[in-house]
Amino acid sequence: MKDINVQYSEDRVQSYSLLLSQMKALLEGEGDVTANLSNASALLKEALDHINWVGFYLMKNGKLLLGPFQGKVACVHIEVGKGVCGTAVLENRTQLVTDVHLFPGHIACDSASSSELVIPLRSRDRVVGVLDIDSPLIGRFDSVDASEIEKIARVIEEACDWQGELPAGR
Ligand code: SME
Repeated sequence: MKDINVQYSEDRVQSYSLLLSQMKALLEGEGDVTANLSNASALLKEALDHINWVGFYLMKNGKLLLGPFQGKVACVHIEVGKGVCGTAVLENRTQLVTDVHLFPGHIACDSASSSELVIPLRSRDRVVGVLDIDSPLIGRFDSVDASEIEKIARVIEEACDWQGELPAGR
């Protein structure tokens, strides 16, 4: 087990750089999707401040299905095009939502959530799932958070062997 008990500095970009290295080290040598997404969600929950939910939804039978996460119980199925997660899949791009209450169709799994960042995960140019991060603070995420966490999402998607997931994927 790798040591994840590190200090995250006040400098955001430096902290994200450290987190990126930690994520690479944590997932190195393992391709299993469940194992990697479980550890990835745990590391993200530990490293990021003011987060009430962090985890993954994976494409299965044309819909998003709840995957490994840290936080309160969550909705299991999300249709493509619905909510922030389904919109990220439909548009195939990151959704940075400053105030979820202003997002039409937002799905409130945890009523504490006030802002949200959803990043599509891809394999061979197909969206295979999303990384979803919720915060109880309005405006928790800005464009720096989005671009730095996108780098982390790239590490996660590259570490996973999606072959077992793809036949049921989208
Ligand atoms: N808020 C998401 C649903 C998932 S939960 O946040 C865990 C959405 O609108 O898609």
